[in-house]
Amino acid sequence: MENEIALKHFVSVENLTNDQILTLIHNAEEFKNQTRKVTLTEPVYAANLFFENSTRTHTSFDMAERKLGIQVIPFDPSHSSVNKGETLYDTLLTLEALGVQLSVIRHSTNNYYEPLINLNDDQHLHMAIMNGGDGSGQHPSQSMLDLMTIYEEFGHFEGLKIAIVGDITSSRVARSNMQALHHLGAELYFAGPDYWYDSQFDKYGKHVDLDDVIDQINVAMLLRVQHERHAGDENEDQFSAASYHEKYGLTNKRYQQMKKEAIIMHPGPINRDVEFSSNLVEAEKSRFFRQMQNGVFMRMAMIEAVLRGNHLGGLK
Ligand code: CP
Repeated sequence: MENEIALKHFVSVENLTNDQILTLIHNAEEFKNQTRKVTLTEPVYAANLFFENSTRTHTSFDMAERKLGIQVIPFDPSHSSVNKGETLYDTLLTLEALGVQLSVIRHSTNNYYEPLINLNDDQHLHMAIMNGGDGSGQHPSQSMLDLMTIYEEFGHFEGLKIAIVGDITSSRVARSNMQALHHLGAELYFAGPDYWYDSQFDKYGKHVDLDDVIDQINVAMLLRVQHERHAGDENEDQFSAASYHEKYGLTNKRYQQMKKEAIIMHPGPINRDVEFSSNLVEAEKSRFFRQMQNGVFMRMAMIEAVLRGNHLGGLK
């Protein structure tokens, strides 16, 4: 396993090697148990640009940056000059001119980061970019904290049976996790409504009925129903929380059928009594809050990798 990772940007899990993933988990665990310390010998300035709503990812990146000694420069999209038509590229050039070296960005456009990191010859943006979630594309920091949480629990990925359940087509968390977990040797199952599944995911796992695998899986990874991404979807008009919960959700009956050592995960925010029976959110098998705690330490490890990749903070 490599000891240190250096990445210019962190926008996707798709091209990470298994070795890099395991090193990031190792480093995040060291931050968690306070055996790893990163000392910045030069100041680093970061901005978190969240053009879509967020509680966990935004606050967690903010916390991780501050724990690493990074100066966080406030940026509020709703009061920024983006509302006067300034492009994302020009916004980043502006922040860079002011001294910001690293930006974490969440945006509704899939692959928004491509033109920011694959520049034309006449463009000179040097900013390090970390993806806080792009549309239904990638959510690398959520995926990495999920991998850390699974690894903490089981100590390996090979052969683990993991069910990804729910609104899969809308989910950037599902996309990142299926790519990484498949690569790491997990056995993936997809469950939930057929109309929120796409056969493009068949290459990563089997599309099944949750009730056929609930007593065999090690991890139930539940996904939020993303109503805000269903404009024009007739299934959204006919959506019933009670019916969804009964057919696809983690009911108390399904919870009782799970293996003793199995765990339940959810990226949040939860629609209570839709994906998850409300009384199970804090149940013994639930790792919902552990995921959030791990998110701070994993994001510290990811940021450290990007600081190293950009020679920021005096880190080599
Ligand atoms: N899991 C996740 O991305 O949550 P937020 O939208 O609250 O950041």
